[in-house]
Amino acid sequence: MSYLIGIDASTTATKAILVDGTGDPIATGTREYGYETPRPGWAEQHPGQWWEGAVGAIADALSKAEIDGSEVAAVGLSGQMHGLVMLDAAGDVIRPAILWNDQRTADQCDRIRREIGPEQLVSLTGNDAMTGFTAPKLLWVRENEPEEFDRIASIMLPKDYVRFMLTSAVATDMADGSGTLLMDVANRRWSGEMMDLVGLSPGQMPELFEGQSVTGTVGTEAARLTGLAPGTPVVAGGGDQAANAVGVGAVDSSTGALSLGTSGVVFVASDRPVVEPKGRVHAFCHAVPGKWHAMGVMLSAAGSLRWFREALAPDVPFDELVSEASSVGPGADGLRFLPYLTGERTPHSNPHAKGAFIGLTIRHSRAHMTRAVLEGVAFGLADGASLMRDAGIIMPAVFNSSGGGTRSKLWRQIISDALDAKLATVKTVEGAAFGAALLAGIGVGIWPDVTEAARVVTKMETTEPGADAEAHLAAYASFRDLYQPLEPLFPDLG
Ligand code: XUL
Repeated sequence: MSYLIGIDASTTATKAILVDGTGDPIATGTREYGYETPRPGWAEQHPGQWWEGAVGAIADALSKAEIDGSEVAAVGLSGQMHGLVMLDAAGDVIRPAILWNDQRTADQCDRIRREIGPEQLVSLTGNDAMTGFTAPKLLWVRENEPEEFDRIASIMLPKDYVRFMLTSAVATDMADGSGTLLMDVANRRWSGEMMDLVGLSPGQMPELFEGQSVTGTVGTEAARLTGLAPGTPVVAGGGDQAANAVGVGAVDSSTGALSLGTSGVVFVASDRPVVEPKGRVHAFCHAVPGKWHAMGVMLSAAGSLRWFREALAPDVPFDELVSEASSVGPGADGLRFLPYLTGERTPHSNPHAKGAFIGLTIRHSRAHMTRAVLEGVAFGLADGASLMRDAGIIMPAVFNSSGGGTRSKLWRQIISDALDAKLATVKTVEGAAFGAALLAGIGVGIWPDVTEAARVVTKMETTEPGADAEAHLAAYASFRDLYQPLEPLFPDLG
């Protein structure tokens, strides 16, 4: 029996999952860390944290399973998307990576739109300029840290730093590359116009690969540190959302992926790139060759519930809070919650957007507020789905779900009602790392393609739109009226 390892260099931890040749997860390893916020709205991490995390997580997974590294046939990589990693000619990190949730680049996004023209930008890249994306971060560095910018020999995305340390290859995958705003997503190649705009040349870009392609092999020093055998193939993998979609079985247009972690994502695969005219929905390559995907990303999904609990009910366990909310009817007696606690990407690309409870009266209790939070997040996800539908994406009848928030049956029901789609839970743990392991297995021939590999994903419980669907949709309609009148007030609120 040979084994596969999938790695996810996420914002909060680097995780490794060890999977056997039938797709069964055998063991996991996790190394947690935090990120720095040197100024309000900034988010940075040192790439060394991902590498040390990967070394530790691989060693933990191998030792838990009592498996020798030489039995691992291939490694696949996944990680937080969009982060800017800059290396100099010696291969040293120039400055801490600027992460996907960093909001410093509102001015740079405006400038990119102005210089290229908003329509031309969407036509070149499939996307609008969003503060999380990599290209505006490069402009920020060029303008604010010109000496560091001049030292750039190569840029890459977070998981690709782990690849660089494992194999010395400077490479990325199509899905993660799409989130840089430097790619011609429709043609699966870097965009000359966008590279010119940020001041980079092709030699400074990582080489682009399909998710299952082998990008290099584990070197001697990396083998000594990780316990893997020198020469073990490392496949491209995928940015966390595309890799997660593979890991939960969303590999074609029949099944979507919905993730309810800190951020919330609605992900739908397609056979061709489908672009929302204003670029409000992400149009990215999938980690599956010949497939693209549309994606709505809300920044504070389960993050909203976590905030609510920490701020207002720190001693109450999550389950108890959510169970209180089930004692309140759909629509929370007229209380609405806008979930824009850390600005927003989809459907309102606005770093200044703010959260709000609207409609509070003396009758409302904590249970109503919790219910409003669960509903507000579901409605935000439905907003993303609705933009996709308007852009011509065919909505799948079922979304396979992942992320801590989907443990709540009530939350799954509200989301199923708001999206008017079935929501299934799957057995897979660590969706992104698992998806990366499946891509590694395809890369070394364990499965012929991703459709076969995804057959190992087992569905658990399916939630369908239910008796409260009509009431939830009515509350959603009133939720949709609230953002526009508030939008002009947000920037002045700090
Ligand atoms: C996707 C996105 C997040 C990050 C964090 O566009 O920004 O999913 O990848 O994990």
